[in-house]
Amino acid sequence: MISRSTIQKVNDTAELLDVVSSFVQLKKRGVNYLGNCPFHNEKTPSFTVSPAKGIYKCFGCGKAGNVITFVQEHEKLSYPEAITWLAKRYNIEIEETQVSNEQREQMQTEESLRIINAYASTYFTEQLMHTDEGRQIGQSYFQHRGFRQETIDKFQLGYCPEDREHLAKEAIPKGYNKDLLIRAGLLSERYEKLQSIYHGRVIFPIHNQSGRIIGFGARILKTSEKSPKYINTPENEIYSKSKTLYGIYFARTSITKQDECYLVEGYTDVISLHQAGVENVVASSGTSLTEEQLKLIKRFTKNLTILYDGDAAGIKAALRGLDMAVEQGLNVHVVMLPDNHDPDSYVQETGAAGFTEYIQHNKKDIILFKLEASLKEAKDDSIKKTELINEIAETLSKINRVEDFTKQQDYVRRCAQLLKIDEAGLVSLVNKKIRDKVVKRDFQHKEEADKLEQMAAPDQTHVQPEINELLRKDYQQEKGLIRVLMEYGDKPFDDKISVADYIRIKIANSDFTHAGWQQIYELYFQTLNDSLQYPTEKTFTYHETEAIRNLAIEALYYPYELSENWHKEYQIFTPGRDITYLDDVTHTVTYFQLRKLKAIYAELMEELRNIPDEDEERINMQAMKDLKAKEQELLQGLRIVAIR
Ligand code: CTP
Ligand code: MN
Repeated sequence: MISRSTIQKVNDTAELLDVVSSFVQLKKRGVNYLGNCPFHNEKTPSFTVSPAKGIYKCFGCGKAGNVITFVQEHEKLSYPEAITWLAKRYNIEIEETQVSNEQREQMQTEESLRIINAYASTYFTEQLMHTDEGRQIGQSYFQHRGFRQETIDKFQLGYCPEDREHLAKEAIPKGYNKDLLIRAGLLSERYEKLQSIYHGRVIFPIHNQSGRIIGFGARILKTSEKSPKYINTPENEIYSKSKTLYGIYFARTSITKQDECYLVEGYTDVISLHQAGVENVVASSGTSLTEEQLKLIKRFTKNLTILYDGDAAGIKAALRGLDMAVEQGLNVHVVMLPDNHDPDSYVQETGAAGFTEYIQHNKKDIILFKLEASLKEAKDDSIKKTELINEIAETLSKINRVEDFTKQQDYVRRCAQLLKIDEAGLVSLVNKKIRDKVVKRDFQHKEEADKLEQMAAPDQTHVQPEINELLRKDYQQEKGLIRVLMEYGDKPFDDKISVADYIRIKIANSDFTHAGWQQIYELYFQTLNDSLQYPTEKTFTYHETEAIRNLAIEALYYPYELSENWHKEYQIFTPGRDITYLDDVTHTVTYFQLRKLKAIYAELMEELRNIPDEDEERINMQAMKDLKAKEQELLQGLRIVAIR
């Protein structure tokens, strides 16, 4: 584990502008820098870097973050990997925290296995390229498959000789450990003899995301009935079938660029497509997709296109992972290839252009695809159709509406049409499923669950947009307040209190409707209390929790996002350039309070309608009067600020 102080040093030293500039050409625009976004294709620049704040944001695709997330996203690295990358660049020595003996042993085994795999791979290519047997059997097989030499080199394909003892005789004298060779799935021990597992097979090394070999797939050449077509590395410290996608290392850049990932079944499909120039492709290695694989894909793109030969088994496997993929927020499409073709044979017949064109013309949204297929199967069977409606509602309920509300609406409409049922009926069924899930969800996810529940509550679609609108207004105001707090919290409000004190007096935790902003608010004052020092913007934009970082960055970029009529529409004050921070603070706080007053006022009005008791009615009326007076007072205050 990298120590906290190293991470701190990296945070303090790494210059966002410096790092970004080495990948993106930037031009100065006021206090910020502007360039073409490296995360999506664009011709007019919308990628901004604020060197002072150490954060970036693209107004085209929405990607935002700090220097560490930039390296993570751009280089596709994990958090510790990005820290290491930056530490190297800035010559910062990496200090490791104490690891337990067990952890160290585990790490050592992992590293040894990677080294052994690297060795084995050079052995297999050596055998393929420089032995008669390799040339006659291995190379001629690859040639027969249509693989060119450069493709063989790129994928480091190899060959394992028929002689079962050859690998052990080579490896053991070189000092490679017997037990680890077995653990790596390269050798087995029988009657005290070490024998190679892959003998007489061609070898496909399996690379992890950063290009190191974690396992092998070995294909048989003879059509013998006894042995399986492929032998794969067994599960061990570094190889786990369910977490691996074959080809991800070679495909990652292209997946990002195309913003789409093709999924195929086999090693040879990946290789053939690459050779033809279609590089955004990976294989799941013959199993149905797992959640880990979906997450891995999601690091690069949200658009997954599954390519299958027309047989039923492949499609079924794809559909099994459907709900999981939807839950992950992936947009999944399927393509059935023409009769008797797999991606390998089809691309060899049509070439890259024809292949891509076929895919773009024939890809079907998987949810609709599934529905159409099941409808065909159900025909007029009403029981089956009911089951089907239930199933589809279940799938649709997994779309995250907080992120993507229109997507769910679209699906509901199209599915209702296909099913020939009432749209409102399907909406309430989907909502019911969401509510059921919300109830089931545990306390940890309360925040998200609250949001979902709020949104799922009304069963008529037309209520939904209003709720969204309301949530949005509160959201913007709370965001504005957090911005002011982060930007000016440590500045004096008057000669006695700071801006943070002022905000603390005027606004309470409970005034927030959005858990995220509330969390930052609490975190701010908690940090202040604990350390007796004012947190800075970096405390939040470089916070270890991703959600907090993202919110903080969103808040700090807030002024640039406002259009002129926001002031009218959302009653949000838009700070101009010449305004002092004190005006900014008082405006923001006052508008916040006004909004709160209005909300309470509306609640009292509502209650008033249902109150039978006269006394209570009087109390209520009085409360409303007080509120009006308070509102006047606040507005008065604003006017004073405005004319000052
Ligand atoms: N597979 C496996 N074991 C088998 C058969 C298949 O592990 N006995 C996995 C392999 O990862 C393989 C994938 O399932 O790549 C798809 O199988 P298939 O289409 O039969 O293999 P291809 O790689 O396409 O091989 P080829 O085209 O040479 O037949
Ligand atoms: Mn095949």
